[in-house]
Amino acid sequence: SSQGKIENIKCLNVELGECTRNPGYEDADGDGPAARDNISVSDSEGKRDSIGVKRLSDARNEYTQIKPYAGMPKEVLVLYSSKARYRVPREILFWLTVCCTLALVAVTIAVIALSPKCLSWWQASPVYQIYPRSFKDSDGDGVGDLKGIREKLDHFEYLNIKSIWISPFYRSPMKDFGYDVEDFRDIDPLFGTMKDFEDLLGAMHSKGLKLIMDFIPNHTSDLHRWFNLSRTRHPHYEDYYVWTDCKPDGPKPNNWVSIFGNSSWTYDEVRGQCYLHQFLKEQPDLNFRNPDVIKEMIDIIHFWLEKGVDGFRMDAVKHMLEAPHMRDEPQVDPNKPPVSLVTTEWDLHSDYTTSQVGLHDILREFRAQMDIYSQEPGRYRFMVIESYDYEEVYKTMMYYGTRQEKEGDFPFNFYLLDLPQNTSGVWAKHLVHLWMGNMPKGKWPNWVVGNHDRTRISSSAGQLYVRAINMLLLTLPGTATTYYGEEIGMENINVTASQIQDPAGKYNTSASRDPQRSPLQWNADMNAGFNEKTNLTWLPLHPDYETVNVEAQMKDDGSVLAQYRFLNTLRQSELPLNRGWFCYVHADANVFSYIRELDGLKRAFLIVVNFGKESAVTDLSSVRELPDKLKVLISTNMANDGKVFLKSRIQTEVGEGLVIQYSTNTRFNPNHPKECYISEKACYLETMGILYKC
Ligand code: GLC
Ligand code: MG
Repeated sequence: SSQGKIENIKCLNVELGECTRNPGYEDADGDGPAARDNISVSDSEGKRDSIGVKRLSDARNEYTQIKPYAGMPKEVLVLYSSKARYRVPREILFWLTVCCTLALVAVTIAVIALSPKCLSWWQASPVYQIYPRSFKDSDGDGVGDLKGIREKLDHFEYLNIKSIWISPFYRSPMKDFGYDVEDFRDIDPLFGTMKDFEDLLGAMHSKGLKLIMDFIPNHTSDLHRWFNLSRTRHPHYEDYYVWTDCKPDGPKPNNWVSIFGNSSWTYDEVRGQCYLHQFLKEQPDLNFRNPDVIKEMIDIIHFWLEKGVDGFRMDAVKHMLEAPHMRDEPQVDPNKPPVSLVTTEWDLHSDYTTSQVGLHDILREFRAQMDIYSQEPGRYRFMVIESYDYEEVYKTMMYYGTRQEKEGDFPFNFYLLDLPQNTSGVWAKHLVHLWMGNMPKGKWPNWVVGNHDRTRISSSAGQLYVRAINMLLLTLPGTATTYYGEEIGMENINVTASQIQDPAGKYNTSASRDPQRSPLQWNADMNAGFNEKTNLTWLPLHPDYETVNVEAQMKDDGSVLAQYRFLNTLRQSELPLNRGWFCYVHADANVFSYIRELDGLKRAFLIVVNFGKESAVTDLSSVRELPDKLKVLISTNMANDGKVFLKSRIQTEVGEGLVIQYSTNTRFNPNHPKECYISEKACYLETMGILYKC
């Protein structure tokens, strides 16, 4: 032991930094605390070699001056730590930590592997379409504007709607009310300023609302800078549009017709050639065979995504490419005299002017650009596509993209717009099935019952069916789309020939889209609260606004609005409705009925809607998965809320819809796989209250 001390002292003679042993400690019997006693004894009592003691005390001073908190030397520590009372707990702790870490990793992996995908914002809420001219006029010029929209954001909170698509508000000469864009990077003064836009977007985001913009790739306004540079043959812009030779008064280059009627070719005096326009002559078609045009459009997409917009509705995409050979399209009726009678899109098979090869590549490129901005959590940028393909539903389905290549999140489903053609349960089922039966597996459906281009369904189907249609919309699987005013059952207005504003209506009165674009009816005050400042409205109001308006319907529990709000809220809080199975149960001349359920969850919903012309008693006794007694959660006729039906006798009046909530242990879908659809399967674990992949 004294040999050890000398070692220590020697060691202190050298720089402390080089010394690996701390002289402040000595282990007389191999135990730490004893060492400290030992030092104090040998120091104070002077029992040991005086030089040694002196040097030791010097050393201690020296040492504490240099390194006052040196702590326990390694050797001592090792001696302590190997004792069982330290070692055993330490090892227990070590293994516990290892096990916990492994368990955590395993649980994390299991949770990730077992969790179904969360619904994204564009799946969780309906998409509400604002036609900005008609929503709310803040400055009293008779035309709605961005500030007006901002004033009315509470409406969406009230309705529990999170996604808002606003029809175009770019700078535009308004020949097609904004679908003719003069500058894709500017706001039309009629709607406000860029600052108004930024304020609106900021206000929306702070309320948790998403803003979807209209994006119009097919054409620009003829006042767009590019068109001017193109008609003057600026070398870079020369091919930005689709030009071909023709004579001022000679025959058109081919028989192609515009969607708004008549030839889609117009002679341009400046350039001395014809340009293509699949819509108005003031809407020249861009040439998407020119890579510079694609680049320009991508830059514009970046511009708005950079500003923070949450998605785009892609306008009229099927028209983006045309066949370069420009041959005549086949006539639907080959015997019609071509020049005089082939004047509308219905006269031709649009084989060379729509849905050309290459279109999807461009859209996928747009999608890829949007994905760059979708990485941040909660910032997914949504893309919905507009393409009317009528009976060629398979063409529409292509916009969903493939497993390898993403495209639209969904193309609009316009088939329910045909509901009024034949009000019956079988027809409703047929239209629903057009989508469900053709949609690629795992994709997300959506439903449109109105927009700025189509007659309001409350006018075409009749008020009697408005509530039933909204009920269908909000209980089917997928995203509902609501055109402003549908939440209160607004109807088309009558527009006299002299009042017509829509260019399509000027060509053909019956094609006018003005009747479905009248100002939103907020209250019973002047101008229905649309314009509180002057007596101007760009289109007349519907005369029913004194009773059909938001304010009145907010006070009435049985109103179209109250029902919309209830169903929308129900849908968002009930798993079977927002992501569960959808199963056909019944369809006849009057009634269409389906089930929404989720595996593992006892609570399920039966929807029974009478789209027919007679009241009906529906017998669902053969559906053994249903309980015998069924209680109505909500009826479109408030008087029937809470009513109990035997499943063999479910009564509905014309235009009445029922949402029946029931409890069951047997799910319908396992026994009827052919009748059932689900986008992404998920099961509920009732004991833990969680969803898992199954
Ligand atoms: C889309 C719009 C329509 C517009 C057309 C041309 O179909 O919905 O309103 O007139 O494209 O842009
Ligand atoms: Mg085109």
